[in-house]
Amino acid sequence: MVHSKLLRVAFLAVVVSASSAQKQADMAACAACHTEAITQPQTPMGRALQLPGQDLILREHPILRVHKGAYDYMVQTHGKDSTYTVTDGTRTISVPLNWNFGVHNQTWILQWNGNFYESMISYYASIGGLDTTTGDEQIAPKDIEQAFGRRISVHDAKACFGCHTTNSVSGVDLDLATLHPGLACEHCHQGTEQHLQDISDGLVTSIPQPLGKLTAGQQGNFCGQCHRTWEMAVRSHWHGEMTVRFQPYRLEISKCFNANDPRIGCLACHDPHLPLSHDLAFYDHKCLACHAPPNDTTARHRAGTASLPMAKACPKATSNCVSCHMPRTRMLGGHLVFTDHDIRIVRPGDAYPN
Ligand code: HEC
Ligand code: HEC
Ligand code: HEC
Ligand code: HEC
Ligand code: HEC
Ligand code: HEC
Ligand code: HEC
Repeated sequence: MVHSKLLRVAFLAVVVSASSAQKQADMAACAACHTEAITQPQTPMGRALQLPGQDLILREHPILRVHKGAYDYMVQTHGKDSTYTVTDGTRTISVPLNWNFGVHNQTWILQWNGNFYESMISYYASIGGLDTTTGDEQIAPKDIEQAFGRRISVHDAKACFGCHTTNSVSGVDLDLATLHPGLACEHCHQGTEQHLQDISDGLVTSIPQPLGKLTAGQQGNFCGQCHRTWEMAVRSHWHGEMTVRFQPYRLEISKCFNANDPRIGCLACHDPHLPLSHDLAFYDHKCLACHAPPNDTTARHRAGTASLPMAKACPKATSNCVSCHMPRTRMLGGHLVFTDHDIRIVRPGDAYPN
């Protein structure tokens, strides 16, 4: 019984790497004409899921351990193979790791006894080790199965794979055999297959749907399919610090936001094909596009010719705007920190705004 499970999982892994190689060949073809195809696969979005053997975190940490309550956890890596093990001293469950979610921090989707589980333990960059998966802090496992992970339905597993991989969800089915790890071009650009087909026939007759013309409001909804929209947050009554990870929602409650002003769309500050910039100064001219002081005639002229309105300038500083107005906020659980996209004046002692 145990054997047949292991075989089934191993078989899946082989099929997956074959189709993933095909996808890599397709992306190499795009690179002949688009530099995006060289940079995007290396970004965290391009690697939002990693397969065995690709994962730097596991390679750099061949043995990870943590003790939680009555249970010991271990994640062990030898070459391409990693295993996730939980034991209470008497009973032990050990499974191979096939689906590594996340680039900086990592959670594993596990298969055991024909079911999917989200691992109870995750890897956190801030501690360089394992701790309870964010959101599961309140769970007090009653037995080793509960300590192993949170059992999830196929529906929930589909959602994880749908946002972190390409080609794994077709209609109502979860098809792990066709999965490409991470977000490939066609996850965002509809019509890329036809585009490539036409090009190999010697024509550029079809061009994927252009995304550069989305308004700021449409960008929030487009990126928000995964990063969560304002509407999802409001309808679900999400509140408190956990909402800081939902950038479209946070941005849209900021006074800066205007759904029709391109200077405040996601794409004004982020290029989805490039790594995220951690240079504070990089963002200054994004803010100054609207908040330039009266003597900054270049920014004012640029806005003026595009007939875009200007807003007030800062009385306190002229650079590193985001360091004061987009505070880094720690989520419950303590290991995940996000940048609050609710751009605002932050006064000491103020409650977290929703
Ligand atoms: C032989 C060169 C060539 C190859 C190979 C190629 N493209 Fe293109 N692509 C073009 C041209 C030409 C356009 C039209 C550019 C324009 O209108 O500015 C285009 C347009 C696009 C656009 C729309 C850009 C926009 O204006 O928003 C996307 C997205 C795109 N290609 C993605 C891809 C992907 C993904 C692949 C690989 C599967 C690929 N391309 C392969 C030549 C190529
Ligand atoms: C199909 C789902 C999906 C869509 C659509 C999407 N993202 Fe992401 N994005 C992700 C996932 C998943 C991650 C987390 C990757 C990781 O760290 O493993 C992520 C991470 C990021 C990061 C953080 C990168 C880092 O260095 O930590 C930025 C910035 C980002 N996305 C911006 C955008 C923008 C801008 C858009 C819209 C143009 C967008 N995303 C659309 C799924 C998506
Ligand atoms: C609606 C789309 C969506 C779904 C569903 C989803 N994720 Fe994510 N995930 C994201 C985005 C976007 C990010 C980046 C921002 C963040 O950390 O919230 C992310 C981040 C992560 C990270 C942290 C990555 C890092 O480097 O910080 C992990 C781990 C993760 N997801 C695992 C999962 C697992 C496991 C599931 C299923 C139980 C899942 N996700 C379901 C969109 C999604
Ligand atoms: C997370 C979503 C996402 C993914 C994944 C993605 N793109 Fe894009 N792409 C966008 C958005 C949004 C735009 C419009 C904004 C812009 O021009 O940068 C865009 C624009 C483009 C353009 C037009 C750029 C220009 O300057 O006109 C090209 C070409 C392109 N993408 C190619 C690719 C290729 C090739 C891949 C895969 C290697 C890819 N994209 C993956 C979201 C994505
Ligand atoms: C005015 C500029 C600005 C706009 C607009 C903006 N961001 Fe950001 N974003 C930032 C800054 C600054 C950071 C933090 C960079 C760093 O790590 O130093 C960031 C970080 C992120 C991250 C990494 C995780 C985090 O929260 O720290 C994601 C994901 C992200 N942004 C998504 C989005 C999405 C989606 C949109 C559109 C709804 C958006 N951003 C609009 C400035 C902006
Ligand atoms: C699209 C133009 C636009 C962009 C880009 C923009 N803002 Fe704003 N911002 C506004 C407008 C409009 C207001 C509200 C009207 C006013 O009071 O001037 C505002 C208000 C503010 C406020 C006062 C909010 C409060 O709580 O009273 C601060 C602080 C601020 N912006 C900082 C920034 C920073 C920092 C950036 C870059 C990360 C930025 N803004 C980007 C347009 C913008
Ligand atoms: C050292 C922290 C700090 C930095 C850096 C900073 N600000 Fe401020 N900013 C403040 C404080 C504090 C206030 C509130 C001042 C008051 O009300 O007394 C403020 C106020 C503002 C306001 C509201 C002005 C008004 O009259 O309502 C805007 C807009 C603003 N800042 C934009 C920016 C921009 C754009 C940058 C970057 C060029 C920036 N800030 C850099 C601390 C900072």
